[in-house]
Formats: sequence, C-alpha cells, structure tokens
Amino acid sequence: MASLLLINGPNLNLLGSREPEVYGSAQLADIEARATELAAARGHTLACFQSNAEHELINRVQQARADATDFIILNPGAFTHTSIALRDALLAVAIPFVELHLSNTFAREQFRHHSYFSDIATSCLIGIGPFGYELAILAASNYLAPGEGT
Ligand code: DQA
Repeated sequence: MASLLLINGPNLNLLGSREPEVYGSAQLADIEARATELAAARGHTLACFQSNAEHELINRVQQARADATDFIILNPGAFTHTSIALRDALLAVAIPFVELHLSNTFAREQFRHHSYFSDIATSCLIGIGPFGYELAILAASNYLAPGEGT
C-alpha cells in the first residue's frame, strides 16, 4: 500500500464554474472523491490538498517528506509557468510526481507552453480533462509497482 498525495494549485477550487469550456464541468470535490476511490481500489491512500497560496503549496510538499508520501500528483495551476520556489520544493523532497493539466496548455497562450515542472516530473498528463486525474492514479500505481497491473 502506498501513500499518494494530490495537490491542486490556484483557482482549481473553482472547477465546475471556472471557464467550463476550458476546464470542464466537474467540481474539484468530485474529482478528488473519484481519485480517492480509485486509489483505494488499488490499495493506496490518497490525501488531497488545494491552495491558492504559493507558500502553502510549498509547505505541503515539504510536509510530504515528513509524512512519508510515496508519490505526488500535481496540478500547479498558473504556478506551473512561474514558480521556481515550488519546483525547488519538489526537488528538495525528491518524491516522484506526475504533472497534470486539465487543459492542453500547448494549444493555449504562449506563456502556458513553458512549465517549471515537466523536466523533473516522472510523467505529464496534459489536456485530458478531469479524467486525467484518474489516469494519474493509475500512473502512480504503475510507477510504484511496475508490472503488477494497474
Ligand atoms: C491548468 C493550466 C494552467 O495554465 C492554468 O493556469 C490553470 C490550470 C490546467 O489544469 O489546465 O490554472 O493547470
């Protein structure tokens, strides 16, 4: 059994009402519930955390080392394109993580094409919408126990 952590960054608390044509109509609570269920079905625990504040996201990543988190699923929101500090936190704890974006950031504005996380993530799930979170659980499961089936 592994300990998984789902971290969502700024404005993702507004999922469902925020630009539904870009991010879909599912609410964050529903996404978290589905991911938790899927993780449990594979014998893992999933802790969920969302914040609009950069320092709180950094603190949660630091805490992940203390609480022995095995794998992080991270949607950094707009901090994807700006936060060296959050990148440094991920490097500091050295916990493997998948970077996830609901929208296809490469099909959007130029400033969304660069991520401070992609080169240090184990994998990236981009543009799959809310279903990406389910795939992220499978990716985490497979990363932690390759060949055991997802
Ligand atoms: C996002 C993409 C980011 O560019 C944006 O700032 C977000 C959400 C996504 O999930 O598609 O807040 O991370």
